Amino acid sequence: MAHQPVLLQETIDYILGDPNGLYIDCTLGGGGHLQELMVRLGEKARVIAIDKDINILRQTSQQLADDRIRFVHADFRDLKQVLNQDESGNVDGIIIDLGVSSFQLDTPERGFSFHSDADLDMRMDTSQKLKAWDIINTYSEAELANIIFKYGEERYGRKISRAIVQERDKKNIDTTLELAEIIKNAVPAKYRREKHPARKTFQAVRIAVNDELGAIERVLPQALEVLKSGGKVGIITFHSLEDRIVKRFFNEKSRNCVCPPQLPVCTCGGQRAEIKLIKRKPVMPNEDECLINRRARSAKLRIAQKI
Ligand SMILES: C[S@@+](CC[C@H](N)C(=O)[O-])C[C@H]1O[C@@H](n2cnc3c(N)ncnc32)[C@H](O)[C@@H]1O
Repeated sequence: MAHQPVLLQETIDYILGDPNGLYIDCTLGGGGHLQELMVRLGEKARVIAIDKDINILRQTSQQLADDRIRFVHADFRDLKQVLNQDESGNVDGIIIDLGVSSFQLDTPERGFSFHSDADLDMRMDTSQKLKAWDIINTYSEAELANIIFKYGEERYGRKISRAIVQERDKKNIDTTLELAEIIKNAVPAKYRREKHPARKTFQAVRIAVNDELGAIERVLPQALEVLKSGGKVGIITFHSLEDRIVKRFFNEKSRNCVCPPQLPVCTCGGQRAEIKLIKRKPVMPNEDECLINRRARSAKLRIAQKI
């Protein structure tokens, strides 16, 4: 199924400034946001479209070929390296739409889905060494439990990690369906009748394989740096940990002083706010969008403008 962009109009409306300016889509995916952005931009606009997944990049760059777009295979954690000297500090708007795209989920051999059988992979960047297989077959029980609990918010993380370790002591766990079956058998029967019991564990392992939280931590200060004064960044998150990182960063950078409120005098040297929050609360999809697109239900868009 084609990827349905989340909070499409809202994201473009908020980040759009000069129609002939410089923009970056850090998470090209199926190009849903990019396509809408291109319609709204003028002839002289320039856009840098990044994805770390070379397969997606190839496919979408063919579909959306346009002289105004430069497609780049990179991890957005290296954002500054992607820009030329004259681009850095001159960016009008940045879009970061986190997570996986439907293209990845719907390509069984990528190993993202617990519905179809494939090797345990889950790498967005297929040149990366670490695969889901390594995490499942080599991490300690405690490390697995931590990943599954923290990134998957899975209440049965301990039971699941114990079952994984017991099974892999007999033989390696090689495929997505083997893992899904182990998870299914590890959780109480009642839980199995709710949503698919492997959903949260698969999400957790995917986040760990791709160091998704580390990438957000790394890109945020760089995004601020490359924006021009008045330029805006919009970030769509799908997980409370992702949103917390963005929220904290935005809150800290939008304050003039970062001293704890109980301190009688300022000791931080009187930091100056670098950004303004366009919306104090995150923008969330309306009911209609959530009905059409299940993925939208957990989405939150935060937007900040460089001062
Ligand atoms: C949710 S999809 C983007 C969907 C896109 N906005 C659309 O409307 O079609 C996320 C995309 O970002 C890519 N991605 C995730 N983390 C990345 C990173 N750290 N660097 C570069 N690309 C990344 C994934 O490979 C995926 O294609």
